[in-house]
Amino acid sequence: MPHLLIDGGRRLNGTVAIHGAKNAVLPLLAATLLADGESVLHNAPQLSDVEGCLEILSGFGCRTTQEGDTITVCADAADTPSITDELMRKMRSSIVFLGAMMARFGEAHLSYPGGCELGPRPIDLHLAAFRLMGAEIHEEGGQLHAFLPEGRFLGNTVSLSFPSVGATENILLAAVTAKGTTTILNAAREPEIIDLAAYLSACGARIHIDGGTITVEGVERLTACTHTVIPDRIEAATYMAAVAVTGGSAVLERLCPAHIATVLPVFAEMGCRISEFPQQIVLNAPARLNRIPFLRTMPYPGFPTDAAAPLLAAATVANGTSVFVESIFESRYKYVGELARMGAHIKIESRVAIVEGVPSLSGAAVDCTDLRGGAALVIAALAAEGRTVIGELTHLDRGYDHLEDTLTALGARVQRK
Ligand code: UD1
Repeated sequence: MPHLLIDGGRRLNGTVAIHGAKNAVLPLLAATLLADGESVLHNAPQLSDVEGCLEILSGFGCRTTQEGDTITVCADAADTPSITDELMRKMRSSIVFLGAMMARFGEAHLSYPGGCELGPRPIDLHLAAFRLMGAEIHEEGGQLHAFLPEGRFLGNTVSLSFPSVGATENILLAAVTAKGTTTILNAAREPEIIDLAAYLSACGARIHIDGGTITVEGVERLTACTHTVIPDRIEAATYMAAVAVTGGSAVLERLCPAHIATVLPVFAEMGCRISEFPQQIVLNAPARLNRIPFLRTMPYPGFPTDAAAPLLAAATVANGTSVFVESIFESRYKYVGELARMGAHIKIESRVAIVEGVPSLSGAAVDCTDLRGGAALVIAALAAEGRTVIGELTHLDRGYDHLEDTLTALGARVQRK
């Protein structure tokens, strides 16, 4: 199994070009199933999660190609409404295919996604919405069998008790070709949802978004289009944390500063100087970061849960004590035990992490426990004295396109062996 070897203590400087967003491209790939003709997605990141989605689409009978950062999908010959158990296990986020599968085939068969590294991953909101929209869903032996007795979803009003990102995407995908109008109340507002709606609208969907209310007037058919995936705001926050923790400076290009409007003030609070330009951010970090007095993760536009682990890693060597509260997922601190091996002082109490900044960390052998926890280990390793050996890289490869190349270009000593 490969490892990342990181020799820490080098100040990072330079330019980073941000890739397309993982969390945008996955639902976009699901959406391609609904359109006639060939969809072209530009700025698609090269990630194992994207490969997994392309395998799922191939399993349906779609024709797919991936060249550089461009993906094409033609779903015209798709005729198999199922996802194998192996692919479901590999990619828990594949549940976002459920709405599109049912809308396209009138039925869907897949295994229940079950739990994941972040704790239980219920899909009750997705299933309740589909039932409200006319679906019959049977769950037995860990398998889900879903049918649309009328062959189409039926528009309805769906009120979400929590603005779930995946449920909002799934309902949107179900609604665009439903019979009648669907209204989603308390919908998630993440930029990735806006991007999905933009692609669907360009394909002919009728979608109106007013804050947390999304109204979709169902249409008979969608026609494929060419779309450019939005930049990855979590990748941007990760590289900002990586540069900041080393006291470095960097220009981050090809990103959307508005999407990280609640992340930037945290870096400012830590003592970084930040200049914003239309698609660029310039970050200059102090020799030692200040603590983060209080950070609570929230649905968008609040502070993103996925950016908390990178910031927490940076806080391990900050001056003073930082407090983090995770309000989205039940179990998001598994990586903290690995940071402790490197000398970090962190106390966890349920969803609260108290991070007492130490003057320095030391390199150690650690394992990624999940995608963003893995990013936290990389950030800690960049700051640590000596060599850190990071294992279980499959987590990192799900979400960071050319991670080592990017860090190496910034002056880090990183090798994969
Ligand atoms: C997406 C992102 C993930 C991010 C998360 C929150 C993708 C592929 N993943 O995940 O990176 O961390 O949004 O911003 O885009 N919940 C239920 N029942 C449901 C659905 C969700 O209880 O039916 C709960 C979850 O357990 C969790 C919370 O709602 O505690 C948020 O989940 P959700 O917004 O659905 O996140 P995902 O779409 O899974």
